[in-house]
Amino acid sequence: MANDVAYYDEFAQIYQEYTEKLGRVSEAAATATFLERYSRGGSALELGIGNGRVAIPLSERGVKVQGIDNSEKMLKLLAMRTDMVKASKGNIADFSSERRYDLVYCVYDTFMLLLSRDEQIACLRCAAEVLNERGVLVLEVRVPDLEGFVNGQKITTALVDNENTFVNTEIHDAVNQNLFLSVLWFSGTSVRRFPERVRYVYHQEVDTMAECVGLVLAERWGDWMRGAFTAGSKRHISVYSRATL
Ligand SMILES: C[S@@+](CC[C@H](N)C(=O)[O-])C[C@H]1O[C@@H](n2cnc3c(N)ncnc32)[C@H](O)[C@@H]1O
Repeated sequence: MANDVAYYDEFAQIYQEYTEKLGRVSEAAATATFLERYSRGGSALELGIGNGRVAIPLSERGVKVQGIDNSEKMLKLLAMRTDMVKASKGNIADFSSERRYDLVYCVYDTFMLLLSRDEQIACLRCAAEVLNERGVLVLEVRVPDLEGFVNGQKITTALVDNENTFVNTEIHDAVNQNLFLSVLWFSGTSVRRFPERVRYVYHQEVDTMAECVGLVLAERWGDWMRGAFTAGSKRHISVYSRATL
């Protein structure tokens, strides 16, 4: 079962501010520059498009971007920001399209919001089906960090400045490779809590799942500037193409 749609409907209120504070908005230009190269000036489909953080700068580079998201509120945020990007409501683990794309991409750990292996494979299968013959799939997925759990629980800070403290709490469900996360955002005298559940997955498992749907790893990077993927990388950016190319 995927995360409740309501989760991102709730998160939509703060998404812009949250991503700005965590450096994700300033990073979007580099992400778009990376993705532009793989779309070869053609068309792209973003899975879990959100408020268009990446889709908008990519469309400004001349790529025809479309998207899918299951949160009405996130789609509204996108529509308020641009009319260059067309997006529709749907589930990234169960979609189809008549159209064929040069690029399908799923960034910012959105792939991990699919909570089972079956759903993650279903997403990859849908993506493979809508790629054109030379099309590629790009995924940005966090490398699981299972160090520091005590009795299955972990608390870390994501950002502390003079006005804000972001605390992440995590509970590990090892059987299902799931983490129950909560972001606690302390600001002034208020605290807000945003719960989320993810299925963590290592890069080689993603490769195996991709192979199940006829895709093979073409490239892997550690960041959007094409830095090497190493043992210390916190995420991977993986590019998959058709196995038959
Ligand atoms: C982490 S946000 C990323 C948004 C955007 N891609 C970005 O990089 O800023 C995840 C997005 O995926 C959407 N989402 C989560 N699960 C989904 C699903 N099963 N189907 C479609 N969209 C989903 C959420 O509504 C949210 O907009």
